[in-house]
Amino acid sequence: MLQDGKLYLGTSRNPDDSINKGEYLDLGYANRHGLITGATGTGKTVTLQILAEGFANAGVPVFCADVKGDLSGIAAIGEYKDFLEKRASTIGLDPYTFQEFPVVFWDLFGEKGHRIRTTLTEMGPLLLARLMDMTDAQEGVLNIAFKIADENGLALLDMKDLQSMLSYMAEHNKELSGIYGNISKQSVGAIQRDLLVLEQQGAEKFFGEPALKISDMMRTTPDGRGAISVLAADKLMMNPRLYGTFLLWLLSELFEELPEVGDPDRPRLVFFFDEAHLLFDDAPKALIERVEQVVRLIRSKGVGIYFVTQNPLDVPESVLSQLGNRIQHALRAYTPREQKAVKTAAETFRPNPEFDCFEAITQLGVGEALVSTLESKGVPSVVQRTLIRPPSSRLGPISDSERRKTMNVSPVAGIYDDDVDRNSAFEILHKRAEEAAKAEEEKRRREEEDEEELQESRRWTLPGFGDDDDDDDDYDDRGRKKSSRRRRSRSRSRPRRRRQSVAEAAMKSAARSVASSLGRALVRGILGSLKKGL
Ligand SMILES: Nc1ncnc2c1ncn2[C@@H]1O[C@H](COP(=O)(O)OP(=O)(O)O)[C@@H](O)[C@H]1O
Ligand SMILES: [Mg+2]
Repeated sequence: MLQDGKLYLGTSRNPDDSINKGEYLDLGYANRHGLITGATGTGKTVTLQILAEGFANAGVPVFCADVKGDLSGIAAIGEYKDFLEKRASTIGLDPYTFQEFPVVFWDLFGEKGHRIRTTLTEMGPLLLARLMDMTDAQEGVLNIAFKIADENGLALLDMKDLQSMLSYMAEHNKELSGIYGNISKQSVGAIQRDLLVLEQQGAEKFFGEPALKISDMMRTTPDGRGAISVLAADKLMMNPRLYGTFLLWLLSELFEELPEVGDPDRPRLVFFFDEAHLLFDDAPKALIERVEQVVRLIRSKGVGIYFVTQNPLDVPESVLSQLGNRIQHALRAYTPREQKAVKTAAETFRPNPEFDCFEAITQLGVGEALVSTLESKGVPSVVQRTLIRPPSSRLGPISDSERRKTMNVSPVAGIYDDDVDRNSAFEILHKRAEEAAKAEEEKRRREEEDEEELQESRRWTLPGFGDDDDDDDDYDDRGRKKSSRRRRSRSRSRPRRRRQSVAEAAMKSAARSVASSLGRALVRGILGSLKKGL
């Protein structure tokens, strides 16, 4: 069943149910992306599991989200089960061997895996606006916040950084509006309140440092297998917007960081987007266009993207048309919308004269799918009814203690587990604010001292002898006169100059210090995340 450069998916059947032939995914075309669809309980997750296993064994690192927790078993060795053995023997998978896989568990909340974080600066305004479901006016303000920060090389690492930046903008909205365009205080306030809500939802865990290094998702083991990164997404799914935005950020990050490699003999990474409809649900057209662009361009960086969703209509047409490798599990076709979905799914396949696609999709059994993959020259294979192979790793979840063990021996153990609060906008702003306040306090104290001294010096003089007069210089034998005049004039100049706003002072010096060390403005890519290595 093992063929060089190909990943075994299962075995197809003829219309009379007799065995036809093995069905494979050609690794050379695995970066032409894919789509796994089907109703709940039809076998999508198991298909994802066997694909991940196949890629890992071929030395290709994999990223996937574990939406229900049932994919975690991929870290454990499979166990004998009647129905799995039966499937193996039906399709002629002999020997059917069990295997465990090198898995790195990740979790935005740090509970079921290593923490994943990024900084706001790295994520950028486009995805953040999407995350917070902003109005156009709010997005405009957010763009300005990032523009000021980017131009000045000022890092917005976490939520409090952005909060202080927004406060600064509200305080100076007149001057800044003149330079950057309208900054409405209402919009600033609305963003600040939304940020608080986001924090309450636990999203602040995701913003900060140490930020994920993409290379940690692209590891291979010493024996040449690709590591499988499994993102614990059950809790994350309770905030679908965060889930979707996070995955888009990861995609964007991969795109911006990886070099061009053309069409490699196998992908450098395969990325599974489970519950893919969440990416596109009421997404603005502009965002969909950019996702489409990234999906198209990331291919030549050797990244294969596989969308997993119930209904092929969940994926916008422009994205759908780029997904070369198709695995369609069963769909129901009762309602008109369901029928439309089945029709769409059926029509995207290169037809097989032996059977009717529409009918087949509604009749497929569990763990069975219509399969068409890209063959030589990138032409889609004739669609086949395929019994998907059973997994070699465990079907179903692993226990908490097994998960712990896996995490303890993971190559990233200890790297991401604790927050690091590096100097960033918030700290810099606040340090400067404190310093400014201290300086102010110091100045006031000195002035008070002067005042006291002045009073004191007066005690040495005799009132009524012109001592209060600055021009009088003949009373003091200790040279007090001169200094008292100086002091007095200084104390008169109080109160004086408008106290420089703390944020202003902070911004100026922060901008100066960071910009001078960075030496250039930041540059953003298609999805607005930071371009690196320029
Ligand atoms: N390729 C397969 N081989 C054997 N059993 C399978 C296969 N695919 C699915 N199954 C069975 O069907 C069940 C549901 O599959 P699952 O992948 O969880 O469905 P979905 O993700 O579409 O909801 C699995 O727990 C397993 O018992
Ligand atoms: Mg599933």
